[in-house]
Amino acid sequence: MPRPTPVPALAAPAARVHDSLVLEPRDVRFDWAGLPLHWVPDEPMATHILNVLHLLLPEGERWFVKVFKEALPLVRDEQLREEVLGFIGQEAIHAEAHQEVLDHLLGQGLDPRPYVRQVAWVFQRVLGERPGLSPARQREALIERVAAIAAIEHYTAFLGNWILNSPGLDRAQADPTMLDLLRWHGAEEVEHRSVAFDLLVHLDPGYVRRVRTMAVAGPLLVRLWVRGVRFLLAADPTLDGRLRPSWREAYRITRRGLLPDPVKSIRSGLRYLKPGYHPTLEGSSSQALGYLATSPAARAAAGTG
Ligand SMILES: [Fe+2]
Ligand SMILES: [Fe+2]
Repeated sequence: MPRPTPVPALAAPAARVHDSLVLEPRDVRFDWAGLPLHWVPDEPMATHILNVLHLLLPEGERWFVKVFKEALPLVRDEQLREEVLGFIGQEAIHAEAHQEVLDHLLGQGLDPRPYVRQVAWVFQRVLGERPGLSPARQREALIERVAAIAAIEHYTAFLGNWILNSPGLDRAQADPTMLDLLRWHGAEEVEHRSVAFDLLVHLDPGYVRRVRTMAVAGPLLVRLWVRGVRFLLAADPTLDGRLRPSWREAYRITRRGLLPDPVKSIRSGLRYLKPGYHPTLEGSSSQALGYLATSPAARAAAGTG
């Protein structure tokens, strides 16, 4: 398979490109038969730090889909309604694409299910529906979940933008099919980065809920990620528990360009809290669409590959 390369951002203003977007679910397929367990060669820790995405996303994105379907009857704007439907279609396919990687890990002797059960508990029980609430409180709880998704989507767009601009992974000769999965997904995250935020503002234009939900979602994501890395390193049958996660090792991997810069990650989280924030100020729709035009999986899904 030809190795897809990151596409340079075009000069078109992001907001104008975004305004004309019609979100299209791309029914991609990936063949994992040849995927090595350490798909970033000689970098088991970098591989597993990125593998946490596969552990978190199927449960997380199925939860997004459920919440957005519940929120759909509250949408009073036709354009936003179309975008929410497009978002639902894209996230449903993302969840299934990452699920297939989990099944492949299981086939390679790394059983991800104990950790995935914990993630499912977080999304279904802690962040899930509360039966027995009055209609007014149910609506309030639903908007709170939409706000949590808007906060998480800020980070998925940040990561999407990073993965589209991560030549370090190409230099390290990361598996091209996995890179295409991550960049296809990352590009769609950049493409639909405004939808959850616009839905939140449509349902509650206030500022307090945005800050409150980011204050919960940001640390929760970090905690789940660190826990996921520990789990994968311990469950990897080729490592026998010899490789322990360390900040020093994470720093080395970041310097090699295999992970996002933590300082930039924190700054990005803080930008979400600026009163004038809008997701179109982050990332480039043109670059995302440029990648999707060259992605082997997206081209095959469109019948042009
Ligand atoms: Fe997604
Ligand atoms: Fe998303």
